[in-house]
Amino acid sequence: MSLGDAQIKVITYGTFDLLHAGHIKLLERARELGDYLIVGVTTDQYDETRGKLNVRDNVMTRIENVRATGLADEIIIEDYQGQKINDIQQHSAEIFAIGSDWLGKFDYLNDFCKVVYLERTAGVSSTQLRAETLGIARLGVVGNGKATSRFIPEALKVSGLECESVFDPNPLTARDRLENGGVYRHFSDYQAFLTNVDAVYIASPHEFHFDQVKQALESGVHVLSEKPMTLNKRETAYLYELAAQRGKVLLEAIPTAFCPGFIRLVALTRSGVIGTVKCVDATYTRLTESPARELTSPFGGSVTELASTPLLAVSKILDAVPQKSTIDTYMAPDGGVDEFSRINLRFEHAISSVTVGLGVKSEGHLTITGTRGSIYVPAPWWNTTDIYIRFEDPSQNQHYNFPFAGDGLRYAIAEFVSMMQNKRLSTYKMRAVDSVFISGIIEEFRLQKV
Ligand code: CTP
Repeated sequence: MSLGDAQIKVITYGTFDLLHAGHIKLLERARELGDYLIVGVTTDQYDETRGKLNVRDNVMTRIENVRATGLADEIIIEDYQGQKINDIQQHSAEIFAIGSDWLGKFDYLNDFCKVVYLERTAGVSSTQLRAETLGIARLGVVGNGKATSRFIPEALKVSGLECESVFDPNPLTARDRLENGGVYRHFSDYQAFLTNVDAVYIASPHEFHFDQVKQALESGVHVLSEKPMTLNKRETAYLYELAAQRGKVLLEAIPTAFCPGFIRLVALTRSGVIGTVKCVDATYTRLTESPARELTSPFGGSVTELASTPLLAVSKILDAVPQKSTIDTYMAPDGGVDEFSRINLRFEHAISSVTVGLGVKSEGHLTITGTRGSIYVPAPWWNTTDIYIRFEDPSQNQHYNFPFAGDGLRYAIAEFVSMMQNKRLSTYKMRAVDSVFISGIIEEFRLQKV
């Protein structure tokens, strides 16, 4: 074709994970619609933020695979919602083509070009290939309370897992099953339960975690544990050693640790954007319905229930061992739990304060004080969406915004599945050292309280 000829440009998009025959057929037919085919390949981050977790090939591999088909005249990356409109206009694409699984979803693009839905190839998908190549982990849930109700819908968003067993010493009621959205195989014998699963999510009361995690690891089962992993530093450290010895994944399920915005916050802070960090202040409070177990159990209270998340922020940002901790707490009368607590930590080069409260509502924000500027994360900072970086000269201020899907637990579950599938026993997002730090501070608080 000479330069003067008008080309009909066709544009299409996809993740193209584990490139398969369905993708190739789609690209062939899209190409036949015009003279020039532009293929948009999603970035890893975009897939993550739109809830498409556990994509196997990274963006470079996926681009290379599309290139190797020889069907794309141009490959672009798709990184944000709404980008298609801009791409179509920028590239003067006349046709937008997409598989029929998206029927109707892109009709709004008709304002910019012609939208063509191409029949999807039956019997093949990336999801299916991921399941076939990596298998599906049978996950059992330990405990049947509020955490479990939250977990099940989030786990359904992550491929590579099936969730069909529950351990609870008490029989499940029909209502339990309904609330937790699954038809479970119920076990009241923990060892029998463990022989039927590859992995467990431990959401029992805190005081049972250590024994249950230990027994699971000893039985060759991977563990995702609710926070705090244990109430004792040595026990937590022991469990990580045991997991390493047995070659099993052990992960603490603090959703914040896996949330894209929080990961960026830690990276930005550690990169020195506000200079050397001198102080981290984090507040986390929650209203409860009385008489909630967290307000009545001797293992309940604001610190054991809530401090893990702000302590995680301190651990990730300062990454140091505290030299001193002091804790102020308000104890409910008549032998009740700590309802409101402030933990002050002193490190060699910084200080921090963590404020937690049960049955009270405070402003749940996080501030980081540095030698060049400060970072402010508004409530609820633990579901990090907005990061404000502030300087003496306001013209230098920066603001970042990140999407956040669900209640965050899906990111933790996705990391857990990825670790199991790739036989990766540790993750920088939630390290053994972070769990040990959190258990250690909680242990100190409990010792001071007695
Ligand atoms: N596609 C197709 N036939 C298939 C699978 C995908 O025509 N059997 C098309 C999709 O409709 C889309 C493009 O290929 O236009 C890229 O799809 P993508 O979402 O990357 O692939 P899937 O296999 O559908 O991925 P997943 O299972 O992760 O949703």
